[in-house]
Amino acid sequence: MEEIQRFGISMPAELLDAFDELITEQGYRNRSEAIRDIVRNYLLQRQWEIPNGQVVGTLTIVYDHHTRGVESRLVDLQHDYGGQIRCTTHVHLDLDNCVEVMVVQGEAEQVRKLADSIISVRGVKHGQLTCTGVVNLGQQNHPHAHQHGHDHTH
Ligand code: NI
Repeated sequence: MEEIQRFGISMPAELLDAFDELITEQGYRNRSEAIRDIVRNYLLQRQWEIPNGQVVGTLTIVYDHHTRGVESRLVDLQHDYGGQIRCTTHVHLDLDNCVEVMVVQGEAEQVRKLADSIISVRGVKHGQLTCTGVVNLGQQNHPHAHQHGHDHTH
């Protein structure tokens, strides 16, 4: 039989209320059942989320700029991964929240590491990495470019 382990989770009451409401709507009988499914999905999703090899994509984060140290930590990380971050756009969303969108490019494993380090910074409330393999894009573009040149010579 599978070994079952128990552990405690602390989170803001408001977040837990919203979670309870959603999982009740979905028909879960308890939190453990819902969390087990979420963890399984998360593990699967990470396998499919990012292709192997060279990738290009965007990393979007939302953070509360009042959280102590968040901005200097983010700047440090963005310098550490300067080779993979092509550009960053910052928007002051409201009094508390900032949105940053980074265009990222590089080896899939490096891009994954950079996204994980940035999303896990304390104060970052939301983070999403979206990537496309650049090798596949190249293969699709090449025959088109060739065809275009061919038409012009006749
Ligand atoms: Ni801002």
